[in-house]
Amino acid sequence: YCPAARKPNNSRCNNKVRMHEAKVVDMVDVEDIAEKAAFCRCWKSKNWPYCDGSHGEHNKITGDNAGPVVVKRKAT
Ligand code: FES
Repeated sequence: YCPAARKPNNSRCNNKVRMHEAKVVDMVDVEDIAEKAAFCRCWKSKNWPYCDGSHGEHNKITGDNAGPVVVKRKAT
């Protein structure tokens, strides 16, 4: 058990996104990303694969510390 998460470490992380699929894979063309894009890593976003801020509630409930990965273009 992970004391911080208060749940077994072997529990699944995804209980929301496209549950009927054996493996959730998303493709995003880098050309479609304007200045930056935030991608969800908590599996709770209603705008998957993008972060919609749902990680805040997820972290509060579970004691997790999930946050998005932000892909951005270098300033030129
Ligand atoms: Fe999942 Fe933000 S909503 S990381």
